[in-house]
Amino acid sequence: MFEILPDPKLDGIIALMQAFAADPRMGKIDLGVGVYRDEAGRTPVMQAVKQAEAHIVATQESKTYLSLAGDTAFLDAMEGLLLGGAVPHARVAAVGTPGGTAAVRQIAELVRLVRDDATIWISAQTWPNHAPLIAAAGLKPRPYRYQDAAGAMLDRDGMFADLAGVAPGDVVLLHGCCHNPTGIDLSVQDWAEMAALLDRTGAVPFVDMAYQGFGEGVNADAGGLRHLAARLPEVLVAASCSKNFGLYRERVGVAMAIVPEAHKARLAGALASLNRQNFAFPPDHGGRVVSTILNDTALKHVWQTELEDMRTRVAQNRRILAAALRAETGASRFDAIEHQQGMFSLLPLTGAQVECLRADHGIYMLWDGRTNMAGLNSQTIPVLAQAIAKVMA
Ligand code: LMR
Repeated sequence: MFEILPDPKLDGIIALMQAFAADPRMGKIDLGVGVYRDEAGRTPVMQAVKQAEAHIVATQESKTYLSLAGDTAFLDAMEGLLLGGAVPHARVAAVGTPGGTAAVRQIAELVRLVRDDATIWISAQTWPNHAPLIAAAGLKPRPYRYQDAAGAMLDRDGMFADLAGVAPGDVVLLHGCCHNPTGIDLSVQDWAEMAALLDRTGAVPFVDMAYQGFGEGVNADAGGLRHLAARLPEVLVAASCSKNFGLYRERVGVAMAIVPEAHKARLAGALASLNRQNFAFPPDHGGRVVSTILNDTALKHVWQTELEDMRTRVAQNRRILAAALRAETGASRFDAIEHQQGMFSLLPLTGAQVECLRADHGIYMLWDGRTNMAGLNSQTIPVLAQAIAKVMA
């Protein structure tokens, strides 16, 4: 019966990972998938994670099932990290999920339970998996303008003009910080304007928080989300611990609905039931690592220091790359990289130039020029800048 099975549409990020792995060239450079690498090109297990894991191994007495929502200590710790007390606990329903990806999917399915024709507005440039995930959950993704034509800044007017047309019950997907792929974030004023627009239209925000701590710092990066949560009756959140705890393969995520107190139990029940249908119990180990870290003052300090080191290294990579590109190309079109935030920027290159970088120079970035700034180091930055100058010549 499977002869009619269509070939899957391979996600561009995954296709690039496979192409990179199959490339036999020495000196190839991977700037595709969003993974932090240190100066030596490694993605080490964080020290705080190692210590938390050692503690868990020494003290854990059982691995029997928990509830469908997962470990309460983890969910509470994540609520603190994300919301910082901006809303009372009595308004927050949350469940653990296998990574931020599953959190996005669970939230989309939650929306479909109440509105099977809901439109989910997504920024025109976004994580390549957003639209497929939303469509797979049976909802309609629809783009709103985000990056300006020069590729440097937010198209604020375009974004607010497009979103002025949202209907009550539509959902607006926003990147909490470190917008993937543009690195362009909303300002404090933009978040306030967004909250006012959502309040006026009755559309519900859905904040995807995958890079908390990689922009301006853990609390500043959650400022927009906290503002929406304090101001609006309903806010949806998908959060990931892949990057800020380096727990990529452990799959640690949270799906959260912030709602009026009277609806919390209903939402918690619906999210737990969606977990049951899709994977039953969320993975525990990574979440337990996170709660062990966040609930121990000394360990939390170790983690914060490591995260801050990662954040400042990525910002430094941005500064050095922008300067190198200025020097190599004699142009200022790459200057914005320096002021954008988080792991990614969209380099203003054509598809042919991106392909040339891969074929002739062994440099892998996404087809649209999305480049992992956290994958660079002092050796690869000049190589990249020179290669870009060559393909532009
Ligand atoms: C990315 O955007 O590269 C990461 O979020 C990894 C992923 O799952 O796509």
